[in-house]
Amino acid sequence: MKIMSVVGARPQFVKLAPVAEAMDAAGHEHIIVHTGQHYDPMLSAVFFRDLGIPEPDAHLGVGSGSHGLQTGAILAQMDEVLARFKPDCVLVYGDTNSTLAAAISAVKLHFPVAHLEAGLRSFNRDMPEEHNRVLTDHAADLCLAPTEAAMTHLSREGLAERSVLVGDVMTDVLLKVRDAVLENAARNPLADIEAPQGYYLATIHRAENTDDPVRLRGIVEALGLSDKPVILLAHPRVRAKAQEHGISLEGGSLSFRDPLAYPDLIAAALGSSGVVTDSGGLQKEAFLLRVPCTTVRGQTEWRETVDLGWNVLANTSDEITEALVRSTPIATTAMPYGDGHAAEYAVKAIVSALG
Ligand code: UD1
Repeated sequence: MKIMSVVGARPQFVKLAPVAEAMDAAGHEHIIVHTGQHYDPMLSAVFFRDLGIPEPDAHLGVGSGSHGLQTGAILAQMDEVLARFKPDCVLVYGDTNSTLAAAISAVKLHFPVAHLEAGLRSFNRDMPEEHNRVLTDHAADLCLAPTEAAMTHLSREGLAERSVLVGDVMTDVLLKVRDAVLENAARNPLADIEAPQGYYLATIHRAENTDDPVRLRGIVEALGLSDKPVILLAHPRVRAKAQEHGISLEGGSLSFRDPLAYPDLIAAALGSSGVVTDSGGLQKEAFLLRVPCTTVRGQTEWRETVDLGWNVLANTSDEITEALVRSTPIATTAMPYGDGHAAEYAVKAIVSALG
């Protein structure tokens, strides 16, 4: 088959890596389209390099902008890209503006669409990601779900017949990178942190946490009061919003650094006493590494991490402070995100449903 992957934001590059490998192994022609939603080298190029992803066949260069501008800029260019490559299937990933735009342009031109990471729900309609994922699931011909819970959501929305449980492709990558990192223990880029009691690794980037100055200030202050150093890997969005609102990302226990390349991030998480984040990917990665996670949100799409005791939702400053000092979770061998071969199953499901 000729399958076109459309990606644009950092977590999509991570998901693309095992899919590209699985497509190659199965002998399919794989076209990669980069929308350009993320353009900083640390959010884009280093992932292609470190994860061995082939260069994109087309780059739309849309860059930043409001939701309408960004989504519209992708839509405006996809007609030509689809006409040029004529794929048998368009594969979209996750829940970003790039996901929704690619799905809409493909269905309008009658190209079959498969949605990877389908069925996740936060039930929070204030999140741009929630609109993107719900609309994409309903536009898609094939919904590739990462978890049983996602399958249940799809079924409740009348999409059971076009849904297949394949597992989580980010788990495929994580397990491989973890093993490589463990073989080379010297790799932790935060090993210089001088704190015998360890450190917490933090990432905050979601619009719901960064765009309201009162909320962002509350989060930053809570992290500054932590019992251990907190290293915030500052995404461009949080940096820009902090500057706009005159909020310092340093103070007390809190300091910040640039975002890390993927293997470095995994090494830094493995070396930490805990992770504090609003990222979906990092919540899961922390769980798979068995590092306690505090999620700065009111809900999570990855509820298995909470049910199994390794993730705590902390939606206020007090809840963050309390969650950081909680006792170590109970060990578990549960594998709710698949066996590390999700990409292979996803490619097989595409061939069987749309081939
Ligand atoms: C996007 C996704 C989010 C995902 C995240 C991963 C949407 C609606 N959101 O959020 O679901 O979790 O990516 O990182 O699609 N910027 C740069 N350089 C870049 C990219 C962005 O400086 O390479 C800055 C710009 O100021 C931009 C802001 O970050 O305005 C936000 O970028 P954008 O892609 O719109 O959303 P993210 O917050 O990254």
